[in-house]
Amino acid sequence: MAMEGKPFDALDEKLQELVNAAFDMKGCAYCPYSNFHVGCAVLTESGEVYAGCNVENASYGLSICAERVAMTNALSKGHRKFRAAAVSCDVVDTFKGPCGACRQFFIEFGLDWDLYMVKPDKTWMKMQMGELVPLPFTPASLQEERVK
Ligand code: THU
Repeated sequence: MAMEGKPFDALDEKLQELVNAAFDMKGCAYCPYSNFHVGCAVLTESGEVYAGCNVENASYGLSICAERVAMTNALSKGHRKFRAAAVSCDVVDTFKGPCGACRQFFIEFGLDWDLYMVKPDKTWMKMQMGELVPLPFTPASLQEERVK
């Protein structure tokens, strides 16, 4: 269920590290075309935090979201199990969830881990990944019975 909280210090130490990493990573965003800065961080089951920012390109369609940069950063170090992710952008009034492609990218690694959406005033909202993707298509979907 969705849950809102503030400020960061209401979170345990690891989660504070996570949301701070997402918040700070916004500063690295390469977004000269949209000027929309996004930072993301993921917390692995083993307690490590990996972060990423959005990276745009003059060939606009090549741009990649912060969420997928953070995930590929962790995945390319061998991590496959995640406790939580945090995403941060500069939108003031509403909590912003990830785009559809990034939601799908997250749920490849499970439906029952948490996503913290962080506003510039450092308030946050938490939802489970599974809540963000109704009727999900996951690795398990490939194992379901199909007509021959
Ligand atoms: N963006 C992200 O990094 N994550 C999202 O979930 C939504 C959008 C980036 C992509 C692009 O660089 C900019 O924000 C504007 O769409």
